[in-house]
Amino acid sequence: MTYLDHAATTPMHPAALEAMTIELGRTGNASSLHARGRAARRTVEESRESIAASLGARPSDVILTGGGTEADNLAVKGLFWSRHAAEPRRRRVLVSAVEHHAVLDPARWLESQGAELVLLPVDADGVLDLEALADELARHHEEIALISVMWANNEIGTIQPLSAVVAGAAPHGIPVHADAVQAVAQLEVDFASSGLDAMTVSAHKLGGPTGSGALLARRGLGLEPVLHGGGQERGVRSGTLDVPAARAFAVALEHAVLDRPTEAVRLAALRDRLLAVATEQVPGVQVRGAHGDGRLPGNAHLTFSGCEGDSLIYLLDSAGIACSTGSACQAGVPQASHVLLACGVPERAARGALRFSLGRTSTDADIDALLAALPQVVARARAAGLAVVG
Ligand SMILES: Cc1ncc(COP(=O)(O)O)c(C=O)c1O
Repeated sequence: MTYLDHAATTPMHPAALEAMTIELGRTGNASSLHARGRAARRTVEESRESIAASLGARPSDVILTGGGTEADNLAVKGLFWSRHAAEPRRRRVLVSAVEHHAVLDPARWLESQGAELVLLPVDADGVLDLEALADELARHHEEIALISVMWANNEIGTIQPLSAVVAGAAPHGIPVHADAVQAVAQLEVDFASSGLDAMTVSAHKLGGPTGSGALLARRGLGLEPVLHGGGQERGVRSGTLDVPAARAFAVALEHAVLDRPTEAVRLAALRDRLLAVATEQVPGVQVRGAHGDGRLPGNAHLTFSGCEGDSLIYLLDSAGIACSTGSACQAGVPQASHVLLACGVPERAARGALRFSLGRTSTDADIDALLAALPQVVARARAAGLAVVG
């Protein structure tokens, strides 16, 4: 199997797997007062310190969660509830139009809580329109509760101009959250120097276990909890701490950060070969997202005219290649990706999208296998599409 779906989830790092296995064999609730509880607490706090050090944060910034979706929900809902309660006129929630559903959907849900959702537009490459943001800030800064713009996009890999977002929001005291789930294993991410108020990380995208992640939230940031209960994690994320997951997350992150400089160069070279050969060999292909340094090193995103992404996935799967479309499927009906539509890609073209995402275990042989299969697969998908239309 040629695995080109690392943005969906990537294999656990062997060191993280080993650390997790050891911890799974131990018993102790990190909130218990006895020796086993204290040992579990020590493991959690050491993991927290390590996670913080890897991300340029303070240990007290790290709120451990059950993954990226939960951290995004805590950031968006928690910031809105807190800011809106303190100043009721702050109802506007600004998010980029290309956010992951883990940000978009809580922001949409907040409309039922009195929020006004503002979707910030992007250009054809998926880069945030900073003029639209500046205009919104100039006209409504006293009504904005929060801004959420992702570090890098999960579908098309485009990296966002976060420092400009932070610089625009800071004079007005508006908190900025970034979903850095796809960025951490491939880009230099430093929470303190980013100037962000909150940032989401997910362990299974960087060699850790699924169902583990963190919201980094600077001390003093008002955050209303989403989960209520035992009051763990500064009272904003109740629930018994997952000691094995915290430990494995920390170990995976250490390795991801250590290997990142060389991995980023290696993956970018693989990606560039994939894009160059695919666009040369297959007619009707278009690269989507930003170019060169403007996109994640491990992301290649293409649309194939006259094809359905889902047909391409099944045909590639039969050829032993795993990748994804990036678009959602509702009740069995393929939907064009909201990310591509926001970039101005016509709906028909957006339905022929494929995302190939590379990671630690990706090799030249994976790219060779894909490039060998792709021309025939696309020809078959087109023929099938024509047969349906005909
Ligand atoms: C950008 C982004 N945010 C959030 C998530 C959700 O993270 P998790 O799977 O840990 O809930 C993902 C996962 O696909 C993602 O790519």
